[in-house]
Amino acid sequence: MNFHQMRNIELRKELKKRGLQGYSSLRKAQLIEYLSTGIHPLKNPQKAPAIVEGEIHDSSEGIKYSSTILSGTTDKLPVNQIVSGDCLKVLSSFPDGVFDCCITDPPFNMSKTKGLGWAFSSHVTMQEQWDIFSKDDYFQFSVNWIKEVLRVLKTNGNLFIFGSFHCIFTIGFILQNMFDRRIISQIVWFKPNAQPNITCRMFTESTEFIIWAVNNESKKAKNWTFNYETMKAMNSGKQMRNMWEIPLTPRTERKHGKHPSQKPIAVVNRIMLAGTNEGDLILDPFSGSGTTAVVAEQHNRKWIMIEKDETYNQIAQMRIDELSNRLFEDDSNNDWS
Ligand SMILES: C[S@@+](CC[C@H](N)C(=O)[O-])C[C@H]1O[C@@H](n2cnc3c(N)ncnc32)[C@H](O)[C@@H]1O
Repeated sequence: MNFHQMRNIELRKELKKRGLQGYSSLRKAQLIEYLSTGIHPLKNPQKAPAIVEGEIHDSSEGIKYSSTILSGTTDKLPVNQIVSGDCLKVLSSFPDGVFDCCITDPPFNMSKTKGLGWAFSSHVTMQEQWDIFSKDDYFQFSVNWIKEVLRVLKTNGNLFIFGSFHCIFTIGFILQNMFDRRIISQIVWFKPNAQPNITCRMFTESTEFIIWAVNNESKKAKNWTFNYETMKAMNSGKQMRNMWEIPLTPRTERKHGKHPSQKPIAVVNRIMLAGTNEGDLILDPFSGSGTTAVVAEQHNRKWIMIEKDETYNQIAQMRIDELSNRLFEDDSNNDWS
């Protein structure tokens, strides 16, 4: 078997075996090049992509750009790349008003330090460190990132934010009362296969919300993108309502690794088709397993993802690689399944 016939995972294993470093964010063609030459494709000045690591680096520690084959330049932004680092630091290195839309799923502050297990399922209460804040810290954290997102979004650009009852009122308050942004809709995502409530002391949680806001003062907001006809067509010719019944993320979408709050492609797909157009530049500052990028790729939108956890970035990279594998000519006769 030659390099071209090896799958990404095997290529990565081979690089690891040979002690080569810095391969985690490379795509398949780049992995092959690295294996054949030993020269890191992104660190080789002859072959460096238009955006090189550090070009928009704010010199703060912990920011890395993961170049992809689809990378391009827009005002020196890392287009179609996953940026590894804290979103506040990374966002501060971006210029004002460059994104057409932001679709994001921030920490909900719903994790408990002690979780409840359930004998009949793998369900445990979320216990993610990145999701644990005091009430005051969560408020300040939300103000900080929303402020930065509003700065980098174009005027009248769309902003879609996921939340549950744990955080949605805080986020809504910040958008409406602190930043006077126009809220267009609240979408209710109903999960028909939500997990049962194991305490039997309350209703079974089976919904999440998505706030759709426009980046302008509420009285001035205008000309926002809403693809009304597309939505209608997706709803058998009837107006699309704001209650979407979509099951939890299927196992097939988790084949590259698990993220505790990965969103289903079907939900993000509907948001993307409703609120963006081809060629738009989409931001997700809490990328997780990269669902926003995966959907953006599928619909010819450009994207920039930010995520501080390298493990999640690797899952995202593999999901995106899977989509772009078809771009490699030499793959045409291979079965990569
Ligand atoms: C709710 S998850 C997003 C899941 C994503 N929608 C998906 O489909 O996989 C939130 C993500 O934000 C990341 N995160 C939390 N705080 C962050 C920060 N300050 N900067 C960058 N990423 C952060 C977490 O590591 C986590 O993966």
